[in-house]
Amino acid sequence: MPARSTFPSPIPADEVRRLFVEFYRGKPAPGAGGHAVVPSSPVVPHDDPTLLFANAGMNQFKPIFLGQAAPGSALAGLKRAVNSQKCIRAGGKHNDLEDVGRDTYHHTFFEMLGTWSFGDYYKKESIAWGMELLTGVYGIPAERLYATYFRGEPEAGLEPDLEARDLWLGHLPASNVLPGGFKDNFWEMGETGPCGPCSEIHFDRVGARNAARLVNAGDPNVLEVWNHVFIGFNREEGGGLRALPARHIDTGMGLERLVSVLQGKPSNYDTDLFTPLFMAIERITGARPYMGRLGAQDKDNIDTAYRVIADHARALTFALTDGAVPSNEGRGYVLRRILRRAVRYGRQTLGAKPGFFAQLVPVVVERMGGFFPELKQNPQRVMDVVREEEESFGRTLERGLRLFEEAVGGGGGGQVPGEVAFKLHDTYGFPVDLTQLMAEERGMRVDLGGYERLMAEAKEKARAGSAGRFAAGVGPGGGGPLVLGPEAIAQLQRLGVARTDDVDKYHGREVRATVRAIYNGENFDEHVRAGNQTRAVGIVLDRTNFYASSGGQPGDMGLLEAADGRRVAIAGTIHPEGDKTRVVHVP
Ligand code: SER
Repeated sequence: MPARSTFPSPIPADEVRRLFVEFYRGKPAPGAGGHAVVPSSPVVPHDDPTLLFANAGMNQFKPIFLGQAAPGSALAGLKRAVNSQKCIRAGGKHNDLEDVGRDTYHHTFFEMLGTWSFGDYYKKESIAWGMELLTGVYGIPAERLYATYFRGEPEAGLEPDLEARDLWLGHLPASNVLPGGFKDNFWEMGETGPCGPCSEIHFDRVGARNAARLVNAGDPNVLEVWNHVFIGFNREEGGGLRALPARHIDTGMGLERLVSVLQGKPSNYDTDLFTPLFMAIERITGARPYMGRLGAQDKDNIDTAYRVIADHARALTFALTDGAVPSNEGRGYVLRRILRRAVRYGRQTLGAKPGFFAQLVPVVVERMGGFFPELKQNPQRVMDVVREEEESFGRTLERGLRLFEEAVGGGGGGQVPGEVAFKLHDTYGFPVDLTQLMAEERGMRVDLGGYERLMAEAKEKARAGSAGRFAAGVGPGGGGPLVLGPEAIAQLQRLGVARTDDVDKYHGREVRATVRAIYNGENFDEHVRAGNQTRAVGIVLDRTNFYASSGGQPGDMGLLEAADGRRVAIAGTIHPEGDKTRVVHVP
């Protein structure tokens, strides 16, 4: 066993992670009997459509829990594992985005130290080793720890977890062992997936008192550090619980929280995982140094901005490295919101210059690239994507902020009208949660009902508009199906417009493209702004993921978004007649 640390101590985060992995590599015996060290899976789960982002270390092991690991594969042979998993909890079941920056311990991106037993050891060892690590290796006094267990749920046919309770009583006084319900003591990965009762370990930052009533009560000084899940069920589609053929252990401990505990810091943001980022933010933006203030104490919001920006820089750098791109849908949209939230705070609160956010990418790479070497592979690409996104949002940010200011006047209290939230979203690319946040800062609320009504109307309009035009076969000049004939092809050739690269047409992946030609006598911009096109316009790009109508199969509908955030709804996609090499997008 590694030597016991003093507690608290300035132990670096990298050392905390190393001790964790080494401890389990040696349990129950080093070498073949120990836990296998498995690298983190990408934070972008490309092969699991039920998940936006990796939200827990167990995600990559889902096939094992479900008894679906391919025979003979590396997963199938795994009995015990340990790692530090890259996680993002934003969007989806575990969504912490709105809390980030406002407190000392929520993050969009974090590392989860995890251990697993796949049908191998069970609660007794998991709990005993957990306590041995926390108290024996990290040196945390046991009296500062509290453990919870599932109190059962008769209506769902679930028994209380008395086995876990009794095991904890072997390590902690009865006053520190507490029952809990579904919310805290039954862990689920998402709407569906492996799940089971769990035991959380909480730590009291204050000590020398009984903090039992503060456990799971939202007190920042009594925080959950480790969750031991006893996986025995699968949540099926439709909501039913199916018992799994074997019993498994899945534990997860947030590295950032653990480090704050071991370093005796009141906040995760005061640890060496974040301080290099804060120093860089100060240098790049010229803001005053970080002071760690929270809530009403953080009057000018500057410390909140530091936390938001540092957290979001980590999330974006890891997610883009692992292959995600900001977009208008799904995980891409979550990333876009994260980025815009950070850019808004930087520009508005810290007075940062355009392009500041991309400059934080190398700082994340430098701080985290030792344990996650993938970050070092192509940081330039990540910086380019961030810079482009930042630029495109930056162009509309000022105008959007002005619109907001005009709409709310100087006043606090009251409502921000739904039309304002809608316009900010539609014209300036402000996600509604960003508008909500700005409203909250003024003590106001957004009329969400009104906003959603307008969103629904806009969608309906786009849908009806496109269906009408194409179903009726109305084309240029108002009659006949839309056809671009030999004249169009000749023109495209004269302009030197090359064939459209359409290799992405069979999957929905977002692509970046450049406009090569706009097919219409009139000014395209005016046309789109007017919003009531009576004549067709064709847009030819160098690259597309739209499927053009062919062999009776209708062409794709979708959305083009310009670099400045303006969007064009595409109602159909065609090839010019007799020319399968070019693709024309018709709004
Ligand atoms: N899956 C559990 C959690 O995320 C333990 O790792 O809390």
